[in-house]
Amino acid sequence: MGLTARQALVERAGLRKGQKVFIQAGSGGVGTIAIQLAKHLGATIATTTSAANADLVKSLGADIVVDYRKDDFEKVLSGYDVVLNSRDGQTLEKSLRVLKPGGAVVSISGPPDPAFARAKRLNPVLKLVLRLLSAGIRRQAKRAGLRYSFLFMAGNGAQLAEITALIEAGVIRPVIDRVFPF
Ligand SMILES: NC(=O)c1ccc[n+]([C@@H]2O[C@H](COP(=O)([O-])OP(=O)(O)OC[C@H]3O[C@@H](n4cnc5c(N)ncnc54)[C@H](OP(=O)(O)O)[C@@H]3O)[C@@H](O)[C@H]2O)c1
Repeated sequence: MGLTARQALVERAGLRKGQKVFIQAGSGGVGTIAIQLAKHLGATIATTTSAANADLVKSLGADIVVDYRKDDFEKVLSGYDVVLNSRDGQTLEKSLRVLKPGGAVVSISGPPDPAFARAKRLNPVLKLVLRLLSAGIRRQAKRAGLRYSFLFMAGNGAQLAEITALIEAGVIRPVIDRVFPF
């Protein structure tokens, strides 16, 4: 979760101090870390969650909380620099509309794009399939002057050590939903 959040916000989106980021599903595994990391980077954070988890995401650093059961984030948010998309295709399309020109959407829930196919050295048929699967969203993003990128987390020991240091320093608090007995 930590690596996914870091690679999406830092590597792909290049999130910087003073920027606005919309992190979907802020109460989830990726979201809880992403909010705290974005706060640490000095960004303003909007997130979606159900009412039951609104206080949790605020305690992690979310500035604007949208209850996805009641409100449509597209009507509430605008002028964002970065979106971390973790939901379905419809949410991804709507996410483009909260970004300002030049903004970036990084999706961890698809669709995979040609850059991913190249990085994974997929065969030509799979490359074509992924190109077609992501053609619509890439076209929409390009038309709006936005960057679309699919992220599939990659293992990285050095980055894990960085995240561990942030946890040990109290900057990031891992949120434990439930504890099960052995
Ligand atoms: N590409 C990658 O490398 C990578 C890595 C990790 C995860 N993922 C993907 O990222 C997604 C999120 O993973 P996760 O582990 O963070 O999930 P998770 O822990 O299961 O969290 C899901 C959260 O989504 C929220 N939610 C449900 N419906 C929503 C809606 N319509 N709008 C906004 N939020 C909603 C829930 O919030 P409430 O409880 O408040 O309702 C819940 O806390 C999954 O699709 C997963 O497969 C991808």
